[in-house]
Amino acid sequence: MKKELVVSAIKNGTVIDHIPADKLFQVIRALDLNDCTEQILMGNNLTSHKLGKKGIIKCQDKFFQKEEINKIALITPHATLITIREYEVVEKIKIGIPDTIEGMVKCFNPKCITNNEVVTQKFTVINKEDVMLQCRYCQKITKKEMLTFL
Ligand code: CTP
Ligand code: ZN
Repeated sequence: MKKELVVSAIKNGTVIDHIPADKLFQVIRALDLNDCTEQILMGNNLTSHKLGKKGIIKCQDKFFQKEEINKIALITPHATLITIREYEVVEKIKIGIPDTIEGMVKCFNPKCITNNEVVTQKFTVINKEDVMLQCRYCQKITKKEMLTFL
């Protein structure tokens, strides 16, 4: 028997599942969902076998671009991205953090050239589990607590 969904099914769009409960609002902010005019359904502190408590976001008629997926990954490296078409799950991917990040994130070092001139940020991801980004220009490490998206 299929359990009733706590957050309703969507017809077409994207589900971001397995978001740690304390990261839900950070994901909403990073994706600018505030400005999205399509239907958005969400839930938080839902029971999850894997996480204990989880958050979920369902965006009707929205299919995220690579950069947006990378943002989600930086905030919540173990989220699942699910594509829905005509109510069916057509793709389910475990998102992951790439080896390098360009643009997208601010270097936390105020003296870094990227914060003072028109230079695109470039980082090497030196820790994917704990999220640490090393700036290719100033070599300083931006940790997950200091992540600021552009
Ligand atoms: N979903 C949805 N709308 C649909 C179909 C699925 O919102 N039309 C959501 C479900 O609520 C679920 C996710 O997409 O959160 C994945 O769906 P499914 O694979 O059917 O669920 P589960 O097998 O429970 O997935 P998992 O065990 O990975 O959580
Ligand atoms: Zn820098």
